[in-house]
Amino acid sequence: MRADKIYLVGFMGAGKTTLAAALGARLRWRVDDLDAVIERREGARVSEIFATQGEASFRTAEHAALRALLPVRHTVIATGGGAFASAANRALINEDGASFWLDVSFDRVASRLRADDGRRPLAADLGAMERLFQARLPSYQQARVRLDAEHATTDALVQHVVDWLGGQEASSPSP
Ligand code: S3P
Repeated sequence: MRADKIYLVGFMGAGKTTLAAALGARLRWRVDDLDAVIERREGARVSEIFATQGEASFRTAEHAALRALLPVRHTVIATGGGAFASAANRALINEDGASFWLDVSFDRVASRLRADDGRRPLAADLGAMERLFQARLPSYQQARVRLDAEHATTDALVQHVVDWLGGQEASSPSP
């Protein structure tokens, strides 16, 4: 694990994009949104990839996008909600950088995603989404750090991450 790259993981609507932007501004690091990288590389919206090629193709593209981002450092990456559910992606992420899980309740994400405009193909059915939420918890728990994104403000979460990074620096042997 290298402490010069942050991966934000967690369910759709957990606030990964918002926190990534705030962290990027605070640390003066680059910010990448994995879905946006996929869309650029594939030349299609996530919803189009799901509709025309299916979820398996999207997952292949997602893994390839993660790999493409491996060389970049001093970067905050907001991953898509399914990225950390794959064992291969988890291994890659946890080897490459520090993963932070934005832990929020299902009620919170459900109320946020109700206002969704159809951008998220997997958010269409509430029952199926809750099953997905439960099924993914054991994966998210494998993130290096859990963030209480249910109760803490974005500013507090930023501070928590910055403090954690400082602790890593202090405990790593000097070159
Ligand atoms: C997905 C979450 C989405 C996007 C895609 C699949 C998922 O990202 O990657 O629609 O499987 O949970 P967000 O978590 O940014 O919505």
